[in-house]
Amino acid sequence: MLSAQTLLSTITDKSEGKRIMEYLTVALAKGRLAELAMDIFIEIGMDCSEMKEKSRKLVFTDEKNKMKFILVKASDVPTYVEYGAADIGIVGKDTLLEENRNLYEMVDLGFGKCRMCVCGNPELRGKLGTITNLKVASKYPNIARKYFQDEKGQTIDIIKLNGSVELGPLVGLSDVIVDIVETGSTLHANGLDVLEEICELSARFVVNKVSMKMERERILSIVKAFSEKTEVE
Ligand code: PRP
Repeated sequence: MLSAQTLLSTITDKSEGKRIMEYLTVALAKGRLAELAMDIFIEIGMDCSEMKEKSRKLVFTDEKNKMKFILVKASDVPTYVEYGAADIGIVGKDTLLEENRNLYEMVDLGFGKCRMCVCGNPELRGKLGTITNLKVASKYPNIARKYFQDEKGQTIDIIKLNGSVELGPLVGLSDVIVDIVETGSTLHANGLDVLEEICELSARFVVNKVSMKMERERILSIVKAFSEKTEVE
C-alpha cells in the first residue's frame, strides 16, 4: 500500500503558503480503450501525443498540465487505481465487474460498447439449465460465477482461460463460454452464437477514493471535460 503522502497529488509549500500542483496519474487500459482515451485527453488539452508513437515506454508525462499517463494491462487498471498508484483510470465495465475493486466509478463514457454474453453452439439455446455441472470457460470467472450461481442458481464448473476463449467449446474443453461480444465476428467465424446476454458494457472513468478527497476540483473538471467529449445516449 502506498503511503498517504504518495497518494497526495497536491502538496502544500509551507514556505510560500500556497498549493503547488503535483502530478495526477492516469492509468489507461492498453489497446483500443487507451487509443480512444488518448484522443479525448488530447482534445481536452492534455499532451499525451508521445503515447501515440510506437515504443516500449510505459510512462508519459505532460509537464504543462502536470499529468502522467501510464499504460497497463486492462485487468490491472482497477488495482493501480485502488492502491493510489494512479489517481484516475479509464477501463471497461467488464474489468470493473470482474475485479470488484474499491474505487469510485464516475462516468459511463459511452465508448468501447459491447456485451458480456454466454455463447456456444446454437443448438444449446434454451437448454443450459438442463445440463448438470455445465462447463463454462471464461477470462471472467467471477462474472460467470455470479451470473450462473448467484443469479440463476445453477452450479457450474468454471475453467479460467486467458484468451481465444472461443476455442473452449470447439475442442471440447467447455460446454459454453462467458465472454465479450462486440461485432460478433469471432463467434460467427467459429460457428458459435450468443445464447444469453449477461449485461451491456462500455468504458468507465474511475477515480481513487483518497485522490477524490484531495484533488476533488481538479479531478471533477477533468471528468467534466472528458465526458463532454464522449457521447452517452
Ligand atoms: C475479445 C473477446 C472476443 C472478441 C470479441 O478478444 O474475448 O474473443 O474480442 O470481439 P468481436 O465480437 O468483435 O469478434 P480479444 O480480441 O481481446 O482477444 P483474446 O481472445 O486473445 O483475449
